[in-house]
Amino acid sequence: MPAPSSATADEIRDVNTRYHDGAAAGYDAKWGIDYGEVGRAQVLGKVRKALGGRLESFGRSVEIGAGTGYFSLNLLQAGVVREAVCTDISPGMLRTLEENAAGLGVEVETRACDAEDLPFDGESFDLVLGHAVLHHLPDLRRAFGEFRRVLRPGGAVLFAGEPSEHGDRLAAYPKRAAAAVAPLWRRAMRAGPAPNGHADGGAENHELEGLVDVHAFTPETLAAAARGAGFTDVRVRGEELLANWFGWANRALEATADPDEVPWAWKVYAFRGYLALQEVDRRLLEPRLPPAIFYNLMVAGRTPA
Ligand SMILES: C[S@@+](CC[C@H](N)C(=O)[O-])C[C@H]1O[C@@H](n2cnc3c(N)ncnc32)[C@H](O)[C@@H]1O
Repeated sequence: MPAPSSATADEIRDVNTRYHDGAAAGYDAKWGIDYGEVGRAQVLGKVRKALGGRLESFGRSVEIGAGTGYFSLNLLQAGVVREAVCTDISPGMLRTLEENAAGLGVEVETRACDAEDLPFDGESFDLVLGHAVLHHLPDLRRAFGEFRRVLRPGGAVLFAGEPSEHGDRLAAYPKRAAAAVAPLWRRAMRAGPAPNGHADGGAENHELEGLVDVHAFTPETLAAAARGAGFTDVRVRGEELLANWFGWANRALEATADPDEVPWAWKVYAFRGYLALQEVDRRLLEPRLPPAIFYNLMVAGRTPA
């Protein structure tokens, strides 16, 4: 759901900071974020796809909107990046990221900052990356200008998990259907409602969720933002269609329930079903259908060497 078009850039940044600060503690549980084998396979699969099918390794990376560390912590563990700086506008998310890194025994530097105003010298990174963050940024052109500035010649930029315009419209149906049947579903699962209304920081914080998104993209808008900043070899891909409908419906159901009371068997079904449909998307649909059809878009490019 988008922020109102009357919202100023500062209001959008402020609501993103407050919402994500409030959601940080329950974020990994809500989104099933994993730092083991499964999470690593997910992240590596996306990075490989964005890079055009081949996984490279990088020296120093900076992640934009790193949240609790899903991408950077998994990439560090896999040795795909040697040194990682994680940035986010939400200090609360970065605190959770630091706890996650300490738990994994992984070293990482964090900086709370806005994607459009990065506190780093020019040409100081080999990779600028992000997952599910561009759609929160008020001024995409300015942000891509910053990504280009901090990258060394020959460096790579890579963003995944961005909602496509078309996919976002389609995803509204499973979400709406799930919201309508949630009370029945909870009864069938013998699960009570989420203790404070919602799993992302309580009912009050959940209200803000509807205000944090600014964009859903077409492949052309993403490619133009990257090319406009001077990136070359720009490539946009689409991923996940069936997996996303299934995932959104299940997440919408689970978000209304007390997480401790959702049966394990349901969680296994939801997780395995998602992985199976992701394979169907990857093998059958993604190579055949245009990127715009899919829920997620990814964009990658290079700075001229
Ligand atoms: C949907 S979450 C994704 C988090 C993480 N990348 C992941 O995939 O789990 C979006 C993140 O972007 C951050 N964010 C929102 N607006 C931002 C901005 N203007 N600059 C930097 N980060 C921002 C939020 O605080 C949040 O942590």
